[in-house]
Amino acid sequence: MTRIIAVANQKGGVGKTTTAINLAAAMVELGKRVLVVDIDPQGNASTGLGITAKARNLTTYDLLIEGEPLNEVALETTTPGLFVAPATTDLSSADLEMVSNERRSYLLHDALRGPEAAALQLDYILIDCPPSLSLLTVNALVAADAVLIPLQAEFFALEGLSQLILTIREVRETANPKLRIEGVVLTMYDKRNNLAQQVQADARETLGEVVFNTVVPRNVRVSEAPSFAVPVLSYDPQSKGAIAYRALAQEIVER
Ligand SMILES: Nc1ncnc2c1ncn2[C@@H]1O[C@H](COP(=O)(O)OP(=O)(O)OP(=O)(O)O)[C@@H](O)[C@H]1O
Ligand SMILES: [Mg+2]
Repeated sequence: MTRIIAVANQKGGVGKTTTAINLAAAMVELGKRVLVVDIDPQGNASTGLGITAKARNLTTYDLLIEGEPLNEVALETTTPGLFVAPATTDLSSADLEMVSNERRSYLLHDALRGPEAAALQLDYILIDCPPSLSLLTVNALVAADAVLIPLQAEFFALEGLSQLILTIREVRETANPKLRIEGVVLTMYDKRNNLAQQVQADARETLGEVVFNTVVPRNVRVSEAPSFAVPVLSYDPQSKGAIAYRALAQEIVER
């Protein structure tokens, strides 16, 4: 059985891609087979996992729009057991092209839950969403068992969250009643910053148990790793960022 987790937050730059890449790598360390599905036209997850533009012959555009099977689109990265379905800027037109399709909200669901997906024998699929609540993100929420929300500990963080929660509720009421909130993970946390501490306290008070115990610290090694095209777990295995993502993986696998 494959568990599908959408990594989503319509706010930009909160750590979605970083979380998708490094959580996936940490799950692989726990012996899991994991696929990162990049549905952001920016293609950051694909780049961060070392898939060059040239290697992106088949992409999530082909998966969603052309009906290419997942096992043709997914590529194994330099980390054995860690796969990525890459994206290119082609995907930016997908929203428009999907609108006229009757199954527009289910295209990713169908692609990830078909027999070609099962052939990959994955334990987890992590979907790296774009920073919007577009049809692409809705596709991720419809396809997923659960949604993981990275939250950057800064002033407007919680306000943006209510919009995402409304969208999750809508998807539950229509296409995917079983959609759960996997949890909220605080990212880029600076423990010396009073505001960050306050946001963490507020998040734990208002959201309660859905907030993971693990907090991902701001750590320069985390931001350097993508330019070496590997997860921080390979780039600097003992860094604070790597240690945090291992702890997060442990919490998720045990939940
Ligand atoms: N724990 C961290 N420590 C330091 N830098 C981080 C950390 N997490 C993320 N970053 C950096 O912050 C920036 C934004 O992160 P990331 O790309 O993961 O966010 P995102 O939510 O995927 O952005 P977008 O909305 O554009 O897709 C990147 O430059 C990344 O390297
Ligand atoms: Mg991103």
